[in-house]
Amino acid sequence: YQLTETELIYGAKLAWRNSSRCIGRIQWSKLQVSLAFDLLPRISQVKFMNNLLFPTMGVSSSKSFMKANSRQDFMKLPLQQVKKIDRWDSLRGSTSDTFTDETFGPLSNVRFAVFALGSSAYPNFCAFGQYVDNILGELGGERLLKIAYGDEMCGQEQSFRKWAPEVFKLACETFCLDPDQSLSDASLALQNESLTVNNVRLVPSVSKVSLDVALSKYHNKKVHCCKIKEQPHNLTKLSEGAKTTMLLEICAPGLEYEPGDHVGIFPANRAELVDGLLQRLVGVDNPDEVLQLQLLKEKQTSNGIFKCWEQHDKIPADTLRNLLARFFDLTTPPSRQLLTLLAGFCDDNADTERLQLLVTDSSAYEDWRHWRLPHLLDVLEEFPSCRPPASLVLAHLTPLQPRFYSISSSPRRVSDEIHLTVAIVRYRCEDGQGDERYGVCSNYLAGLKANDELYMFVRSALGFHLPADRSRPVVLIGPGTGIAPFRSFWQEFQVLREVDTATSLPKLWLFFGCRNRDVDLYAEEKAQLVQDQIMDRVFLALSREPDIPKTYVQDLIEQEFDSLYKLIVLERGHVYVCGDVTMAEHVYQTIRKCIAGKEQKTEAEVETFLLTLRDENRYHEDIFG
Ligand code: 2AM
Repeated sequence: YQLTETELIYGAKLAWRNSSRCIGRIQWSKLQVSLAFDLLPRISQVKFMNNLLFPTMGVSSSKSFMKANSRQDFMKLPLQQVKKIDRWDSLRGSTSDTFTDETFGPLSNVRFAVFALGSSAYPNFCAFGQYVDNILGELGGERLLKIAYGDEMCGQEQSFRKWAPEVFKLACETFCLDPDQSLSDASLALQNESLTVNNVRLVPSVSKVSLDVALSKYHNKKVHCCKIKEQPHNLTKLSEGAKTTMLLEICAPGLEYEPGDHVGIFPANRAELVDGLLQRLVGVDNPDEVLQLQLLKEKQTSNGIFKCWEQHDKIPADTLRNLLARFFDLTTPPSRQLLTLLAGFCDDNADTERLQLLVTDSSAYEDWRHWRLPHLLDVLEEFPSCRPPASLVLAHLTPLQPRFYSISSSPRRVSDEIHLTVAIVRYRCEDGQGDERYGVCSNYLAGLKANDELYMFVRSALGFHLPADRSRPVVLIGPGTGIAPFRSFWQEFQVLREVDTATSLPKLWLFFGCRNRDVDLYAEEKAQLVQDQIMDRVFLALSREPDIPKTYVQDLIEQEFDSLYKLIVLERGHVYVCGDVTMAEHVYQTIRKCIAGKEQKTEAEVETFLLTLRDENRYHEDIFG
């Protein structure tokens, strides 16, 4: 087949377009292959061949075929050898494993690398990342790099910093892109490392948008401004050492949700933390003046490169006080990257040296972080000569993330309202000997009053909704604030009863656990539900009540298993578990053990039974750390 000039140019353009869009391994048709290969002798004489030539070899570039693993390798291949492989059939018949049929899965034009995030404090560490990595591979995707892991418990940021440039370099090589050029194209050039007082500044601004608009843009999701209905009230009696849990009622007209769903709340950092930082950051005279964070960017035009100041594309214009309160995470221990920045702004060499030690010595850093749990202001207090500029600190800080809470109400029971059950988090670092630490969101919520604004959005909890078939028995297991979503479930049952008093409701059982009777959440509501025959059984596991043996929910499950077996197995009921990860695992193992005993099944049979329960969407978990 003799290619015409037009076909050759078309082939060249096609190859060029595909490669520059980085679409992954190009699925060449027979014609495209011959076009590409027939093109080689000609384009080898043209200057832009580097850009064109290698993409045309996309089918084989990153595997052993022709032993060309990089553009440089490829360029070294004798042209005749390249020219020889000018038919699709010969490609398919090649000895390379790249072209065996199995690799042509639906994702055979995708190349990927997975960085899995997780915490080794949880079972199934990084299981989701591992799953994604496996499935992409099984579907024919080409793994550019072995899966890498980032453990929140230790060195997550370091692992990512090691992985990111590696995968970027490899991706550029694979897609035939110039790493330097691609970096600036991807506007990654102004990475934190290259931010200095010369290319970051805070300047007065006149434009300021409302907080819901600013948060929506900053977090890339629609954020709603709601109002607090009344001051949150305590659900627990205030006794020595008890954790306080409160009920928060929010007016949320127009926000749609289902029982079991979550809300994401955007909190504010504590005023004393913000005030403390305002005292220490330099370069801002008035913390209540509206400012804009700007970066000095390089622009390429036909007249050459010039520099101009541009507003940071995410950070909104606002007062420094609001920016610190609402947009930035001030409480997570500063990363080593932020410490590097701080080290550059100490007047006292001793401070610089100690900060640099934390930056360079992994174990010193991890120890310091885990033991002290220092927030940014603590660090500035620990290194008193450090006076960093506000602009640079803002550019380095990470976003203050929303906190998720299970909704404790049914929209059919309390229309236009959302209720939350919130435990107030307070503890002391350094094994209880150090400074008091305050959970950002729970303490913020505890301080709200009627009519205060609250910024939030609803997140659907797929897989944690009541069964569509409302005749099925429902078993709820949730100690502590694990009870939160179950209030939305029982409110739903209350509505069912109100709508139709004649029909009998499905069986509803609740296993709740707490330390002692003073912290038994919703005790009166639960008693009323039993009295109204909406809830059939309520079990209370008390773990620290004087004169009662320590009891956990799983102990009661074991005691009651004969009846539970009937509900779950024979009547095909639904089980809902909500609460912390260790409890959920213990509950699961208890049910497993009880089923094995009851049915005299082997380990494997019990496992299959429980997996089927999950597959049939009858074992629901909503778990947190
Ligand atoms: P504890 O604090 O006395 O250990 C709510 O937090 C309740 O859950 C408390 O009574 C708490 O008991 C209990 N709890 C703690 N760990 C648990 C676990 N692994 N399984 C079940 N309940 C647990």
